[in-house]
Formats: sequence, structure tokens, C-alpha cells
Amino acid sequence: MALRSLVQTYWITRLIRGRGALARAVQRRLTVAATALWLTALPAGPAAAPGPGTIEVTVDTAKTGAKIDRNIFGQFAEHLGTGIYEGVWVGRDSPIPNTRGIRNDVVAALKALKVPNVRWPGGCFADEYHWRKGIGRDRAVSLNPNWGGVLEPNTFGTHEFMDFAGQISAEAYVSVNVGSGTPQEGAEWLEYLTAPPETTLGKERGANGHPAPYKVAYLGIGNESWDCGGNMSPEYYLSQLKIYSRFVRNFNPAQQATDKMLKIAVGPGGDGPRWTEWTDTIMKAWQARTWSWDVDGLSLHFYSVPKWPPSLKSVGFGEDEYAQIVKTTLEMEKLVTQHSAIMDKYDPEKKVALVVDEWGAWYAPLPGSKPGFLVQQNSVRDAVLAALNLNIFARHADRVRMANIAQMVNVLQAMILTDKEKMVLTPTYHVFKMYVPFQDATFVPVTFTAGFYTHGDIALPRVDAIAARDASGVLWLALANVDPTQQADIALKVPGVVAATASGETLTGPAVDSVNTFEAPNTVAPKPITAKAENGRLALTLEPTSVTVIAIR
Ligand code: AHR
Repeated sequence: MALRSLVQTYWITRLIRGRGALARAVQRRLTVAATALWLTALPAGPAAAPGPGTIEVTVDTAKTGAKIDRNIFGQFAEHLGTGIYEGVWVGRDSPIPNTRGIRNDVVAALKALKVPNVRWPGGCFADEYHWRKGIGRDRAVSLNPNWGGVLEPNTFGTHEFMDFAGQISAEAYVSVNVGSGTPQEGAEWLEYLTAPPETTLGKERGANGHPAPYKVAYLGIGNESWDCGGNMSPEYYLSQLKIYSRFVRNFNPAQQATDKMLKIAVGPGGDGPRWTEWTDTIMKAWQARTWSWDVDGLSLHFYSVPKWPPSLKSVGFGEDEYAQIVKTTLEMEKLVTQHSAIMDKYDPEKKVALVVDEWGAWYAPLPGSKPGFLVQQNSVRDAVLAALNLNIFARHADRVRMANIAQMVNVLQAMILTDKEKMVLTPTYHVFKMYVPFQDATFVPVTFTAGFYTHGDIALPRVDAIAARDASGVLWLALANVDPTQQADIALKVPGVVAATASGETLTGPAVDSVNTFEAPNTVAPKPITAKAENGRLALTLEPTSVTVIAIR
């Protein structure tokens, strides 16, 4: 074990240091030596050693970890660009097939993902959203100043969102306006949504078509209150949080004893003193809380953007841009670890979840797209990015119990792209679908020697892997080959299990920047893969820049 940690320490050190030609040359030699040491350190088993260059992955079924909460596969749908209007809502009179105005193709695609929850109406939009404009017959037309200053018709409001969530069988995660709203406005919105039908607001809800109280599973109290949500100091936000936590109540009779609404506070937006202070302030106050307020989650926002404003292209990019953004995305690990450690200090029992309710790749807008609409394509690179982030969340499943990728349709790292009646599923969509078996499965530790993919000054782990056991006992393994230049041969060991077969799906494309388009929707689509039993191990080859999910039976 001492040798193992020595080698691990070496790799970690190498990841964070290492600049310059000499350092790189030395590191390359050390990498070979370290890999050799690691392989020698593995306990000898009955199976023959894998061939040179093969990465041995051992699934330790004797140990189990936390439940991977299905909520980490949550979605985020903001009134931004065509994320809602066109992407979800086409209106009842549209020639695009719809159910009560919500497009059927998008609903069917999302149902297949078993989306656990959808966060709405923002984002920055949430802190300027006034819910009364979005109910009743005559909707107010307002503007969307955050996102292109376009008209906001408010035709997609409270009832339409709850209908949409119901159609895809997802829970509602409603973000209440703290920035430009008031506690009274927020309290009345939740009363309108959840109070019994006999109350005045319950009657109004009934008159608008839904007499029964809605279930609101999650309440977000503000959004990025340190920035677009009002530029508040942690102390100022904390005082608001206490007020909203106390007064924005859920009255649904079915959510009083069980199924209680969980409240999520605004959390940090990065690492460094500004953000650790934010987490510390909220969690310290939470530890000293009185009966009159509480929260169940603290949010974390982190986008994969090497530098602001986002300038990397989402199509037609090269290996430099690939390596840069994978390096950036892996910083999620550091952020989750750092903020979890602060939370552990005040909440060792891990009652408060870390909710990564905005994450994903943020590129330069597609040329010709409308300003402020955050339109980007989605490539094989994004599939790898999605898998790496989901793996990080799964490895921190004891604390990270919810996450929402930004965003669901047509915005940033979307699952789905639409153009009028056309719809296409992105590589990220396919990863979410392949990962469905991990929803609520129990984490099983995996050990492997990742090796390195190096490009210029950047050294990244060559592969990544997680495993989990689902409720029916099936063992699932997800593998990502980060390297765009070479395949990865995997030798899979599951001690104590005579794995007869392992099969599933693998996702890649002709190139790292391959995308799905309306004309060629299946350029990046999952294909079947089967592992071969060889020398007491299961052998499989991962294509360059690919994501693979297999069941070991
Ligand atoms: O997802 C786009 C925007 O990014 C959200 O509105 C905001 O919360 C974040 O800054």
C-alpha cells in the first residue's frame, strides 16, 4: 500500500506541476517507471498478467460506497434563447406535435433519460421572474434583459412548467426570486402552488386548471446571489436566506410528514478565498441554526470554461482546445473536495447536500446565432466531459446528491437541439442515457492505473472509471478513454466474481469534434460492445475519446 500511495502521490504531483521541456522529459520517464512500479505492486492473482500498455481495472465488489442519488442526473431549463420557447413549448396551435403546447418529441426523448428533476425558471432569469405574469388567461409580455433583451411572452409559466415536469415524470425544482422579488412574492408563489383548494390562492389555481396542490420537491432560494442574483455579500445573502427559508412554505398536505420539500441555498461559484468564505459563512450559520430556519442543500456552480468570456469553439476545434477544456472540467474534483471539506467541518453527518445545480461546457456562441442565446454544438468531446463530471459526482455520492447540467435543450451543453419541427439528440444526451443504470445504484470502488494522455504542457489521466451495483444486483461499469490519439486496452478484474460476460454500449465518433446534426443525426451514437473473457479477466478495447457503459453478469 505504501508503494501504491507513493506512486499515486507522484501522479497527483505531476498533474499539478510539470511545465517546460526538461520537466516533461523527466516526467515521461518517471511515468513509465511509476506505471511499472504500480503494476508490480498489484497483488498476484491466478490470472495471467495483461499485455504491455493494457490498463488493469479492478472492481472491488467486497466494498460498497454511498448510493448514487438519481438526482445527480438532473436538468436545468432556463428562459434563455430557445431553451423553453421552441425547445419545450411550441403552443397548443403549433403544427409541431404537442400535448397542451409541450412538444411530444422532446418529452419522449427526455422520458428515456428518466430525468429525476428539472430546475426552472433560471438561472439569472429566476431573480427577475415575477410568477404572476405567467398565470391566467392574459399573460403580461415582459423582457428578458439577461438573455438578449428579447420579449418574454410568459406563455410558459407555472402551470405549463408543472405540466411539463409531469409529462416527463420529473420532480419540480423551482427557483424563487430573491434578487428583485420579495419574501411575500415568493411565499405567495409557493402558497399558490401547494395550498389546499379551499384557500383563496388554491381557488385561483383551480380556476386556472389545477385544483389539487402541486408537489414542489425542491426550492432554490435565489441564484448566484453573489453575482447576477444581486451581488450580495455572504452575510447579506445569509440574512435573506433565513427569511425565505422561514416564510416560503410548502403547504401541500402530502408533503408535510414525508416527501418534504428540500430547500437549497445559494453556494459558491468556484474555488479560492471568495468562495470558501461563502461556503463557510452559510455552513457555520447552518450549524448554529435555530428551529425557525433550515436548508437541505448548498449549491455549487462551475462551468468548464478555461477563461472568460468563453472563446473556445464548439465545432471545428483541434487537440489544443480539447486538452484545455478537459483539464478545466477536471477542476470539478478540486471544487467538490474543497467545499465538501468545509461542509464536513460544520456538518459531519452530511445532512446538507452539495447540489451542483449548474455545470457543463460553455463555448463561444455559434457564429450567426442570436446574441445572448448561448447556442453551441455538442461533440464527442462533450460526451467525455459529461462522463468525467458524472464520475466525479458519483465518487462524492455521500455529499453530492443532486446536480443539474446546463442546460436541457438548445442552450450550452444541451441534451437536445431543435430547429422548428426538427430535433436531434446530442452526444451528451447519449451519455446520460447510457448512465441511467447508475441512478440510485450503490457505488462500488474501482482501482486502476489511469496512465497519462499528454498534449503540450497538459497531462491528463488517460482513462477514468466508476462502478455501481443496481437494485437488481447487476454490476455496472462506466469507462472513459480521454485520449483522442489512441485506443485503451482494458483488462477487467472482478475478484470473487467469475464474470462470464460483460456487454453494453460505447459512444464515440469519427473525430473528437464530431457532432450530430439535423442532416446527420447519428454520427455520434452508441454502439454495442462486448468484453471477451481472457486469462481470467475480461478484455475490452476503448476507442479514442469514447465513453463505454457495460453490465458485468
Ligand atoms: O446557465 C446560464 C447562466 O449561467 C445562468 O443563468 C446563471 O446562473 C449562470 O451564470
